[in-house]
Amino acid sequence: MKISIINGPNLNLLGKREPDVYGSTSFEDFFEKMILSFPDIDFDYYQSNIEGELINQIQDMGDSSDGIILNAAAFTHTSVGIADAVKSIKSRVIEVHISNTFSRESFRHKSFLSPVVDGIIVGFGLDSYRLAVESLIKDNKIKGV
Ligand code: DQA
Repeated sequence: MKISIINGPNLNLLGKREPDVYGSTSFEDFFEKMILSFPDIDFDYYQSNIEGELINQIQDMGDSSDGIILNAAAFTHTSVGIADAVKSIKSRVIEVHISNTFSRESFRHKSFLSPVVDGIIVGFGLDSYRLAVESLIKDNKIKGV
């Protein structure tokens, strides 16, 4: 089973960026450990600060991944283009957020992605990604894949 993780702008700074909100672990350190706890999953990981590059990646992964875990970060709240890309692919897509966006500024309460994804996991810190992996694995089993 292949799972793609796609991270949007400023998530390359995890660990250094607003540690009170996002924690003090880099995504790379977290990801290394997560990979070890799911030895049967073929993961790939992509991060970009550029909206069009994220759209390209969603299109590229859209038919070859069994599931995409997407944290579009700030573009979640602004991007019709990323929402349209999600709508145009076959893979299941889980929207994740590290922080509880609903307990933050009101502009973070709106997501252009939530209406077009298969599920949403919000506010569990980096564990949001692990929960998304587990949900994709469960779903694949139910479908008998
Ligand atoms: C975020 C929440 C967004 O509002 C913010 O712009 C981010 C990270 C999160 O994972 O909590 O960059 O997506």
